[in-house]
Order: sequence, then C-alpha cells, then structure tokens
Amino acid sequence: MTLRERYRSVQTWATSHQVRRSNLPRRGTGGSQDAGSFVHAEMHLQQTQELTHVGSWEWLIDSDEITWSQEHYNIFGITPEQYRPSVKTVLNYVHPGDVRNLEQTLAKALEERRPFRCEFRVIRPDGSQRTVISRGDWPNTQPGQPRRMFGTIQDVTLLKQAEAQLLAAHRRTRALAGTIEAQEAERRHLARELHDEIGQALTAMTIRLHRLIRRTQSVPCLVDLNKCIDIAARSLDQVRSLSLELRPPHLDDLGLEAAITWLLDQQCEGAELTHSFVVQRLPAEIPDEVRVACFRVAQEAMTNIVRHAAATHVNAELAYAGKKLCFSIADNGHGFDYALAQTASDRGGSMGLLGMQERAALLGGRLEVLSTPRKGTRVAAYFPLRGKPLKKSTGL
Ligand SMILES: Nc1ncnc2c1ncn2[C@@H]1O[C@H](COP(=O)(O)OP(=O)(O)O)[C@@H](O)[C@H]1O
Ligand SMILES: [Mg+2]
Repeated sequence: MTLRERYRSVQTWATSHQVRRSNLPRRGTGGSQDAGSFVHAEMHLQQTQELTHVGSWEWLIDSDEITWSQEHYNIFGITPEQYRPSVKTVLNYVHPGDVRNLEQTLAKALEERRPFRCEFRVIRPDGSQRTVISRGDWPNTQPGQPRRMFGTIQDVTLLKQAEAQLLAAHRRTRALAGTIEAQEAERRHLARELHDEIGQALTAMTIRLHRLIRRTQSVPCLVDLNKCIDIAARSLDQVRSLSLELRPPHLDDLGLEAAITWLLDQQCEGAELTHSFVVQRLPAEIPDEVRVACFRVAQEAMTNIVRHAAATHVNAELAYAGKKLCFSIADNGHGFDYALAQTASDRGGSMGLLGMQERAALLGGRLEVLSTPRKGTRVAAYFPLRGKPLKKSTGL
C-alpha cells in the first residue's frame, strides 16, 4: 500500500470515526483542521505500529466486542474484511498448545481486575506461525461504565528466533569447549602412557638385548639381536616424537615460548626450512587454556606450511599488545585461496583452519589468515588476556 493509499484509507476510517465521536468537544476553530491533525496522528501511529511490529486492541468485555489496529490484523495475517474479532473466535488463531494458558491468564486478569502479559503462538490462515506477546490493562472508568480493557500485541517471532539461535550457538560453544578440553586431557594421558609405559618397556628390552649380545657367541644370533636393537631404537624414537607431538612437556614445564621454539626447530629441520622466531614482551603468566590453544594454532599452521606451502622460510612472532597475546606465522610459499578453503572446510572438507578459528574464538579471540598467491601465507591468532605484568623480551 502506498503512502497516499494508506493516507486515504486512514482518512476514510477517521471520517467515519469522527461521525461517531461527534458528541466529543472540539478543540480549535476549524473542524476540518482538527480532522486533519487527527488523521495525521492516526497515520503516524499506524506507521509506528508497523515499524515496531506492535499492534493495539480494545475489548468491551460484556459485549465481547474487540477492535484491532491494522498492525494487529497484519500480525495475524488477516484483514478487517475477513474477520471481526471476539475473544471466543480469536482462540481459533491461537496455537492449541497455548490456548489454555491464554484463557487462564485472561480469566485471572478479569477476576482480579489486574493487568496481564501473555506470550503465545498465532497460527495464521496460511499456516505460518508467529510468536506474540499480548499485554492488557484497565483504563480508568467511572462506576457504571461498561467494563473495558485495552492493550498491545507485539510480534516477537524474530526476537525468539534470534534467541533460539543464540542459545544453540552458546550450547555448541560449550560442547566444543568440552570436547577440546577432553581432547587435551586425552592427549596428555596418551603422551604420558606412550612415554612412560611403552618408552620404558622398549628401553628395558634394549638393555636385555645388549646383555644377550654380550653372552652369545653365535654369529646368526648376533645379527638378529642387532636387528632387534635397531627396531627397538627406531620404535623408541617414534614413540618419543609421537608423545611430544601429542603434548610437548615444554608446554607444561617451560612455557609457551619454549614449546613453540621446540616445534619450529623440529618441524623446520625435518622440512629443510629456515626460520626466525621473535618473542616480544610476554606477560609473566599466560593462562593454561591460552597457552594450549596458542600452541595448537602454531602446530596446525606449521603442519600446513610443511604439507601445503612449498615454502623455504618461515617467520614466527609471539607478542603481547593491547591486552592481547598474538601469535603469527608467515611463510614464503605459494599461498592459497582462503575463501575457497573456508567454504570447503565449512562443508566438512578439512578441519585444520576451522579448528584454529574455533580455538581462538572459544577464548574470545580471533584468527586472521592472509594469503597471496605466490607470496605466501600469514596466519595470526589473537587471544585476549587480562592485564598481567610483563617479562622481558627475547629474540631468536
Ligand atoms: N600455509 C599454507 N600454504 C598453502 N596452502 C595452505 C596453507 N595453509 C592451508 N592451506 C590450504 O588450505 C587447505 C585447508 O587447510 P586445513 O583446513 O588445515 O586442512 P588440511 O591441512 O587437512 O588440508 C589446505 O588443503 C591447503 O590447500
Ligand atoms: Mg591442516
């Protein structure tokens, strides 16, 4: 409906209304002037109701006559021509699960002559559903005047949807935090088991094999025993590096800087990459969860460089600025299309980039990925920290 059409419809309505209200005292000098400002005010009210999705109603209780504003009709998805409201018939538009509560609320309000507030679902004639909040109150009436209530109806469907989405997101975040925490605990447990149980068993086995070598004279036996020692040594190496990868003890014993140094040394050496690591003004204490999340980001970013970047050099930096801990790592590899990789990972293609984002987001931080074809990639993770004293900077 255009503004002009709306103006005409309100004008028509107001003119008929004027007739019925003709016994009201008139203010001002010219009747048409009063009617003009009345129409204007009415139009203003109608627009405000449309904008805010709040309709209004009036109820003559004894005759069960109800008047709705245009926005009230809009919320119910019907027109004044299709429906003349009454309390009995309006319940046909209310979700069956909410009828009882609405009836009880109204009955209580009538009995105790109190204002009411009731939330319920409206089923429109086209089958769609809206959630509304209806509020009612009693105007000041003289004794003997008919009982009357007036009120508003607010369409809160979008608000409810946003609330539900927020709740679901909150639940997902909590579940994710729980999963990550459980995963870290499991990794720590596995790392210890591997190191202590299997590592020690392999060491004990190697010692016995050496003892057997000293005792035997048989050359074929000596060959086999030496082979066994080699296998045990390789397995021990693998167990150690697996255990370190799962949970480097540096992270718990020596801190984040030492753990990242170890990670870079170990990974860059294996992949024949040169690297630099600059550490600036770190807080004296970094909370456990930030330390672990930051290390896991470094680990995934470094793994990605080794697996995908075809780089020759890596620059890493750990700094504290603006109450945030920032870890960044840049390679000079061939880069990639981040938007495309994100779409793939949203579809469940890969977990690395998503995992880094989630680790940062869970702690109120964020991940930034900047990648330029043929110029390399820079991954930066920011973790907010509450103000802590700083310790002196180091560089590598
Ligand atoms: N530093 C990088 N250099 C080049 N490509 C990268 C880099 N990091 C990530 N990628 C690209 O982004 C994709 C998604 O990475 P990720 O989510 O970690 O999954 P995955 O490593 O399992 O493939 C990779 O397959 C790769 O194509
Ligand atoms: Mg990866």
